[in-house]
Amino acid sequence: MILVVGGAGYIGSHLVKELVEKEEVVVLDNLSTGHREAVDQRAIFVEGDLGNEQDLQKVFSNYPIQAVMHFAANSLVGESVVDPLKYYQNNVASTLTLLKVMKETNVNKFIFSSTAATYGIPNVEIIHESTQTKPINPYGHSKLMIEQILADFAKAYGFQYIVLRYFNAAGAHESAVIGESHDPETHLIPIILQHLLGQRDKISVFGSDYDTKDGTCIRDYIHVTDLASAHILALQALLTEKKSAEIYNLGNGLGYSVNEVIGTCENVTGVKANVEMADRRAGDPARLVASSQKIFSELGWKAERDLKKIIADAWKWHQTQRY
Ligand code: UFG
Repeated sequence: MILVVGGAGYIGSHLVKELVEKEEVVVLDNLSTGHREAVDQRAIFVEGDLGNEQDLQKVFSNYPIQAVMHFAANSLVGESVVDPLKYYQNNVASTLTLLKVMKETNVNKFIFSSTAATYGIPNVEIIHESTQTKPINPYGHSKLMIEQILADFAKAYGFQYIVLRYFNAAGAHESAVIGESHDPETHLIPIILQHLLGQRDKISVFGSDYDTKDGTCIRDYIHVTDLASAHILALQALLTEKKSAEIYNLGNGLGYSVNEVIGTCENVTGVKANVEMADRRAGDPARLVASSQKIFSELGWKAERDLKKIIADAWKWHQTQRY
């Protein structure tokens, strides 16, 4: 049985939908940002907090957990700068509580959602796992701290783990039953689509004077279903003991500027956007593009869905708007 912590959230709920096809799944989520309705009905749902040792002990004693996949985190760069306590409390302290209970109950396989924000402002065009990690905000620091803790747990206690560093997760389940539902929404693609649906009067482009091809920031967008399939391969690698301590980037390897993303949204939806150029947003690196060559060579994973597909699936979901 696999425990998915944060399985009611955006990325967690998409993973659960794929994982229930192969494994028995228990989801633990405190529903602070997740949605109960987004959890596939084939999974067992437990409402609880990973910072609460008793909630965790109950789950580990009630179910025969073989491995844990951890999606429960706060993940907004800007918010982490103004409220670092929240990020270190939820992303570091609570994760440590989870790892402590895992150690006490002899569960030692762990898949951890990390981020491109661990790299800070990279001085290379394409980011490899060996690129220097130098976060520039508390969010990136909080994720890198757990990566370090995992490396130490592996040495000391025989923990086995895979860290997945996501680039820009986007899109929705092809069925349009679940999608990206944040409140407030800060991410580019949902903001554009909400605007194109008439729910916002304009799109603000945060900075048009970056050192990039059109002056706007470049990001590597990856379909949430591609992220889910990477997790399933990573889990298999841990369960079969093929891998025991690895870090992988998850991206498309292609960079799109903010202007290009807006243009693609207009093409996919057939609706014209009202765009204004605005000031830079604090903490945004000009360019973040991944090499995912390592996970391709070692686990055979690559992103199957391009930006058009990401936007088409997100658009389908936004038009029905469930969870
Ligand atoms: N942007 C705009 N206007 C908006 C919203 C976003 O111009 O209204 C721009 C941003 O400035 C950035 C790009 O669109 O250049 C993408 O922004 P998002 O907020 O969608 O995503 P981020 O790249 O800031 O952050 C995402 C995740 C983080 C993760 C980071 C790592 O949300 O958790 O990727 O790359 F840390």
